[in-house]
Amino acid sequence: SAAEKGGYEYFMLKEIVEQPRAVADTLLGRVAVDGTLTLDEMRLAPHELREISKIVIIACGTSYHAGLIAKYAIEHWCRIPCEVEVASEFRYRDPILDRQTLVIAISQSGESMDTLMALRYAREQQSRVLAICNVNGSTIPRESDGVLYTHAGPEVGVAATKTFLTQLVACYLVGLYLAQVRGLKFGDEINTIIGQLARMPEQVDKVLQTVEPVRELARSLADAKTVLFLGRHVGYPVAMEGALKLKELAYMHAEAFAAGELKHGPIALIEDGLPVVVVVPSREGRSVLHDKIVSNIQEIRARGARTIVIAEEGDDSVRPYSDTLIEIPAVPTLLQPIVATVPLQVFACELALAKGNDVDQPRNLAKSVTVE
Ligand code: G6P
Repeated sequence: SAAEKGGYEYFMLKEIVEQPRAVADTLLGRVAVDGTLTLDEMRLAPHELREISKIVIIACGTSYHAGLIAKYAIEHWCRIPCEVEVASEFRYRDPILDRQTLVIAISQSGESMDTLMALRYAREQQSRVLAICNVNGSTIPRESDGVLYTHAGPEVGVAATKTFLTQLVACYLVGLYLAQVRGLKFGDEINTIIGQLARMPEQVDKVLQTVEPVRELARSLADAKTVLFLGRHVGYPVAMEGALKLKELAYMHAEAFAAGELKHGPIALIEDGLPVVVVVPSREGRSVLHDKIVSNIQEIRARGARTIVIAEEGDDSVRPYSDTLIEIPAVPTLLQPIVATVPLQVFACELALAKGNDVDQPRNLAKSVTVE
């Protein structure tokens, strides 16, 4: 009913707007004012987490993209090697697992059969399994050693939105908690991150206040045959998520590339008028990557691409090469996916609506896939 949809025509529109609240609820009670994290609910004891020598993240679809982003954060903060793999591939390649391996299964529904089978396999190999899940008491958390719930609330739209942002928050919390229990020195960087994480609800809200031009842009692209997405570092999985959303909702060919790979092939695809969405890394810390991507934007634009650039507010370096510039708040590099993904969700949703598609129930897709 209209009431259930909070006055919106589709659940997806409502769920996009709920993201600041979902992010806030997922942080609630887990971060103390002094920056100490409390995740006892996870059921994995600190001594167990200190024994971990490798992390393997398994997931499907959008949850897999959350895992890809988690790898950057966990390896950087905790210095524990971290692999990420789609669950459907994982157990069929004889992966190397043991008691010191922490397997993190990310699943919104907690029912994806591929993820469930992968976690069962991991447990048979004696690995500890931690679930990141949005549905209380679902199968994946029940079969895991520990669980950290995302508090996004029920998500009805088939394409994940608010659950993705909360999965990112959960992944950051796990990474920071691992660093804490392993006694890693919480320098300024970590303190800044924790402080900024607490501010994410307002930052996401800011993005939502400024996405109207993204809707217009989407409508103008309803007849495009293909859209390419480019990103680097954590912006690469964000680009992948943007492309997936477009496939799911607008039934449009979309593909993401790591911007550094452009010269190794994808640049051959660039032709006059081809829309290319570029996620520009934050200028903080890894400014080398920022500058490299600005060169990529120049290269593709010189070959005729229609550049749609997502960059930090005040980043004037990209302005001359952007046909459309979408500004997002400046936040620490590793947290940028939380704000950078939102315009891409709006973009795909609006484009699909312009095509007359049902964004809550895209054709051929299911909210949770309980067959292998
Ligand atoms: C389905 C949904 C996707 C989702 C994926 C993983 O394919 O259509 O939106 O990302 O399953 O679901 P999970 O519940 O395991 O996160």
